[in-house]
Parts: sequence; C-alpha cells; structure tokens
Amino acid sequence: MNLTLHVWRQKGPADEGRMERYEIQGVNGHASFLEMLDVLNEQLAERGVEPVAFEHDCREGICGSCGFMINGEAHGPLPGTTVCQLHMRHFKDGDVLYLEPWRAKAFPVIKDLVVDRSAFDRVIQAGGFISVATGSAPEANLIPVPKPLADRAFDAAQCIGCGACVAQCPNGAAQLFTSAKVSHLNLLPQGQPERFDRALAMVEAMEKEGFGACSNFAECEAVCPKEISIDFIARMNRDFLKGKTRSVPKTPMSA
Ligand code: SF4
Ligand code: FES
Repeated sequence: MNLTLHVWRQKGPADEGRMERYEIQGVNGHASFLEMLDVLNEQLAERGVEPVAFEHDCREGICGSCGFMINGEAHGPLPGTTVCQLHMRHFKDGDVLYLEPWRAKAFPVIKDLVVDRSAFDRVIQAGGFISVATGSAPEANLIPVPKPLADRAFDAAQCIGCGACVAQCPNGAAQLFTSAKVSHLNLLPQGQPERFDRALAMVEAMEKEGFGACSNFAECEAVCPKEISIDFIARMNRDFLKGKTRSVPKTPMSA
C-alpha cells in the first residue's frame, strides 16, 4: 500500500517545529507501524534527509517507550494497542496519516516525535514504592493476599507508563497513570502502612509537575493500551481525601 505521512519535525526543544509531508510506497501490511517508520527513515537517509526521531525499546507492548499521535489518536486507531504493536494491515492504500508527538505541557518535545516523560519518574519517586527493611527476600507465602485483591492490583500494575492517557486528555491530566501506580500498591496488604501518604505524595508530585486536572472525559481510558480503568482514579481520590482529613500521624513518606 502507498501512504502519505505528515510528520511533526522539530530539531530540538527550542525549535519551532513544523509538519513535513512524505510519500511512502509499497508498505507491507504485516509490518508494524514502527517498522514502516524504519523503512521511511532508510529512504530519508538515502536522500540525505535527517531520519524521523521516535522512541522505542521492546516493540512488544511492554516497556512503554513508544507512542505518538496518529491522526489525533494516541497510539493510533486500534484499541488496547501500543503503536509498536499496531500493524499496517489496519490501514488502507492511499491513507493520509498525521503523526505528532504527545501533546502535553508536562511532556516537552525533545525532538520530532520524542518527548520528555521524566515527570512520570518524579511522580513514581514520590511514593511508588514500599518502605521495608532490607535483608534477605521474605518467604513468599508470609503475607497471604486474597485472590480478588491480587487480580485488581495486577490490573493496575499493567500500566506501562507510556503517557498516552496524558496526551489524549484535553486537560493534559495524569490521573489515570498516577492512580494506577498508587492503586497497585494501595490494594495489597504490603501497601497499607503508607497507603494514605502514598496517595498524598503522588498526587502532590503530579500537580507540581504541571499536569492538568481531571474532569472525567475518560479519554485516557479510551486510549490506554493496557485498558486501565478510570475506577482507579476514584480509588486514588478516596485515599487522597482520607489522607488529607485523617488525624493519625503521617509516615516519613509524606513528611
Ligand atoms: S495509564 Fe495507560 S495510557 Fe496511561 S501511562 Fe499507563 S499504560 Fe499508558
Ligand atoms: S516499544 Fe515497548 S511498548 Fe512499544
């Protein structure tokens, strides 16, 4: 199939950036979207044009490195799929595709389709852990975890930190990501001692990073490649409110 691509080109954070049009012929339907871009980049390099920068690592939908907007949709048109797992058979000959980097103030563009998502790292650093004394690994069955809780925690833990939720949200909000990271620990027995401090610390870090406020559009849930439910946002909000209003002493996490 033949495609017309309009790709956001931006040399660096200070560059103004602009869309550039490329024609690509003979695209194989079995190729992934990133493999199609690899072919485009080979063709650009042969013509002495700087290849399009895009981020990737596993190309298996696991690492969360990849992601950009395809015709205004984060990770493209296929639900529950990262752009590295999106295959060209889902497009048709003659399609015109607009590729843009994630759109969010908290994710500044580094180059072309690559954005700086280190704001997510700082949200995790604020509370995405459990404080334990180090030593040898504890016996695996020491703390029994009820199966329904383990399953729910696993649902949240599937978040790969790709940032699609933020990019699709009209407010640039990071509630879905943050609530997934809060919930996968707050649901487990091991996460209980710091539960409310974790919610406080991570929500405060999220706000400090310049993400927007959630107004329940649910665009995040619609584009999330791991289909994380917005129910986790309600759960995080409850823990945040309890953390704000409780009278018991705080743990070092929020001190
Ligand atoms: S919640 Fe979904 S869209 Fe957001 S970072 Fe996690 S995996 Fe990506
Ligand atoms: S490259 Fe790892 S999720 Fe896409």
